[in-house]
Amino acid sequence: MYILGMESSCDETSAAVLRATDEGFEVLSNIVASQIETHRLYGGVVPEIASRAHIEAVTGVTTEALATAGITLGDLNGIAVTAYPGLIGALLVGVNFGKSLAYANDIPLVAVDHIKAHVAAAYLTEAPPKPPFLALVVSGGHTALFDVVDYTDFRQIGGTRDDAAGEAFDKIGRVIGLPYPGGAALDRLAYEGNAAAIKLPSPALGGDTLDFSFSGLKTAALNYINHCNQQETPVPRADLAASVTAAVVSGIVQKTEQALLQTGYKALVMAGGVAANTHLREALAALATRHGVQFTVPARALCGDNGAMVAAAGYFELLRGNLADVTLNASASDAI
Ligand code: KG4
Ligand code: ZN
Repeated sequence: MYILGMESSCDETSAAVLRATDEGFEVLSNIVASQIETHRLYGGVVPEIASRAHIEAVTGVTTEALATAGITLGDLNGIAVTAYPGLIGALLVGVNFGKSLAYANDIPLVAVDHIKAHVAAAYLTEAPPKPPFLALVVSGGHTALFDVVDYTDFRQIGGTRDDAAGEAFDKIGRVIGLPYPGGAALDRLAYEGNAAAIKLPSPALGGDTLDFSFSGLKTAALNYINHCNQQETPVPRADLAASVTAAVVSGIVQKTEQALLQTGYKALVMAGGVAANTHLREALAALATRHGVQFTVPARALCGDNGAMVAAAGYFELLRGNLADVTLNASASDAI
């Protein structure tokens, strides 16, 4: 079975071909056209520019994905497209392209939830987890804990009440002069600093809740930078990166541990762009070992937005018969 996965929810236009057999998945192609360089000029994603860039890239990435996989449209058993959540104009490009392709070639169409797709990247690893399991999704737009009851059935049990983890990294990174998006550069810089140098609030909310709040941490870091500027002392960038990283990592570990105990699950998946963070990968692997839990995190290249994860999520929707038709619309929010 061949599935084409299409992603255009934010600043990456991607198309991928996934081959699904009884033995598992094989990613035959995964073409990603990133717009990061364009948005870097503005220090963040500009939605209108993103939509236009998706329009320019979508035909090319799709053609290349099919060619690299060595198949034609006629070989496809399904087209999976990210339909929500994300930037509405950006999503509409992928949804309309996927819809047209499916309709014109009589190929089944499936709508994919971007968050579920991030988790589905875990099925593209060598030892894929099987639901039920606990999933932590950490990205530029989301930070949430899910009880993954089944491949297509997710129940959110915790989430951020304000900013996402990646958003906090990016905003702090921007103020200390790191290129957009600051997450990856801050990850590297943190190795050069002292994590105990600056005291910052934890993003883990107290008590039984599995919710997070990153706005207090972000504000405290920005206040610290302002204070340095007022004192005309240089900002200790590496110490700040290390201290912010330590606060984010320990807050996420705390709530994930609580969620593991609450659900009793023996398998944990971490996914999303921030799952590429090396400090977080190490800390969650250690947490899983302490609890005797199977830990799966996608390869770093599959943590960011890509079409392969969409194809993997779409495969399970297709199996369940959850088909979309030409009336499919996109949605900026978490559900259609
Ligand atoms: O999943 P993603 O590509 O897009 C969304 O769905 O939001 O995530 C992008 C986020 C950005 O905030 C970026 O800074 C962050 O992932 N990111 C990282 C790292 N690599 C990417 N954050 C921390 N450490 C990294 N190594
Ligand atoms: Zn994403």
